[in-house]
Amino acid sequence: MRNDIAKILIDPEELDAIIARVAAEIDRDYKDGEKNLVLVCILKGSIVFMGELMKRITVPCEIDCMKASSYGAGTVTTGTVNIHLDLVRPDLDRCDLLIIEDIIDSGVTLSYLTRYLLGKGARSVRTCTLLDKPSRRRVDFTPDYCGAEIPDEFVVGFGLDYNERYRALPYVAVLDPSVYSGE
Ligand code: IMP
Ligand code: MG
Repeated sequence: MRNDIAKILIDPEELDAIIARVAAEIDRDYKDGEKNLVLVCILKGSIVFMGELMKRITVPCEIDCMKASSYGAGTVTTGTVNIHLDLVRPDLDRCDLLIIEDIIDSGVTLSYLTRYLLGKGARSVRTCTLLDKPSRRRVDFTPDYCGAEIPDEFVVGFGLDYNERYRALPYVAVLDPSVYSGE
């Protein structure tokens, strides 16, 4: 194990099982032929989860991407959401959007994006997160699909970063606090 990783929280086999379970839940809920499922990947943290999840989902779906952030540098949220890449499609009123997120912390990002996309005219908006830290909520928010609840620790890997590093790790790990203690 790398010496800047304190511990592996979710290993590749567990991630595989989690994603299979979440994909089965999505299949169950979107199998109705009237649904037009569009998976919306929130860049960049969700790309690994999105890639694995979309391979497991068997109902027809499209994919799209947005980029948004509630974070400044490092591990501290700024509380405001910036949209850096918007979802632009002419058929939103016929789209059942499922926002794919890497992790929910304060809840600010997903509660904002849900309201934002409904406001833009999406037919329905649901949310799916790989990880959730419920103890960190600053706004009341519950995802429709959740891979795993985790304790209040800063994690990296499987898409999640610390200052753009560690995204390619094949597991979810707790970063050694010495890496960011100088913040
Ligand atoms: P929220 O708006 O506070 O819920 O923040 C969610 C976003 O914060 C996620 O999409 C991540 O980009 C980032 N984030 C929150 N906790 C962590 C973490 O433990 N590791 C890496 N990124 C995190
Ligand atoms: Mg993110």
